[in-house]
Amino acid sequence: EGTPGRLDRFSGVLPTAAAIPVVAISFEQGRALASRTGAQVSVKVDAAVGTRTTRNVLADTRIGHPDEVVVVGAHLDSVREGPGMNDNASGSAAVLQAAVRLARSNVSVRHHVRFAFWSAEELGLLGSKHHVAQLSDVEREAMRLYINLDMVGSRNFGRFIYSSPQSSQGLYPVALAALREHFRQRDLPFEERMVGGRQRTASDDASFAARGIPTLGLYTGAGERKNDAQGALFGGAVGQPFDACYHQACDTTDNVEGTVLNDMSEALFAALIASAAPDMGAKQ
Ligand code: PHE
Ligand code: ZN
Ligand code: ZN
Ligand code: ZN
Repeated sequence: EGTPGRLDRFSGVLPTAAAIPVVAISFEQGRALASRTGAQVSVKVDAAVGTRTTRNVLADTRIGHPDEVVVVGAHLDSVREGPGMNDNASGSAAVLQAAVRLARSNVSVRHHVRFAFWSAEELGLLGSKHHVAQLSDVEREAMRLYINLDMVGSRNFGRFIYSSPQSSQGLYPVALAALREHFRQRDLPFEERMVGGRQRTASDDASFAARGIPTLGLYTGAGERKNDAQGALFGGAVGQPFDACYHQACDTTDNVEGTVLNDMSEALFAALIASAAPDMGAKQ
């Protein structure tokens, strides 16, 4: 269904039938240690040992060249200690909003877009690692850009763009330029961080970067403290964590700053249009 050349529907939000395999996890002092053993996720929490199956949720556009794919993703799980509204309902909401907005628009994407909601990020990026691992070479090489959203509504926020361009640059430069322009036009200060080589983020973009796919990420800060320079740039409380409820029970809806969440969601959409629908970029 859907008129060729115009995106008005998705093929549906489809659970990827693939369960995340081959990992056993044991928790020690609150840290998850992953090792490859069997065919299912075996989770050991305190004395209780059980096997769990989990799923990523993917939605692909019907149109756009499948030989060039932009992937936009956020992890849907949270830690056991709290509800995870900033980490990472905020990023999930931004990705969902971008999908709905694209579907309702008249934008005709040139490139195929995949919206991804990852499972089990907090257990060691399991969902996104599984996804990239099960791709064929052809599918993996078609992925020209991955954009990650993890924690985009921190109350004492910064605005961070982190990126790993990789050797083949794909659609990365045009998306990065769109993010910069988006923030500059709105007088919203931002800080850029390059990650690469041994220096990887601790979020799902690292799964893509490890396979040579260029990545971008939007982020407003976790438990690390805002320094003087960041206070001068972004305002807010210097010496305090960007998110004082990071991985805690108080990461509720009250822990999400609506304005910065909206700013980051809008920035995501700008980057998505610029990379997946370059003909529309200037008009947006
Ligand atoms: N992935 C980390 C978590 O979920 C937080 C994080 C977000 C780290 C973005 C780096 C970049 O706890
Ligand atoms: Zn193409
Ligand atoms: Zn987390
Ligand atoms: Zn997270």
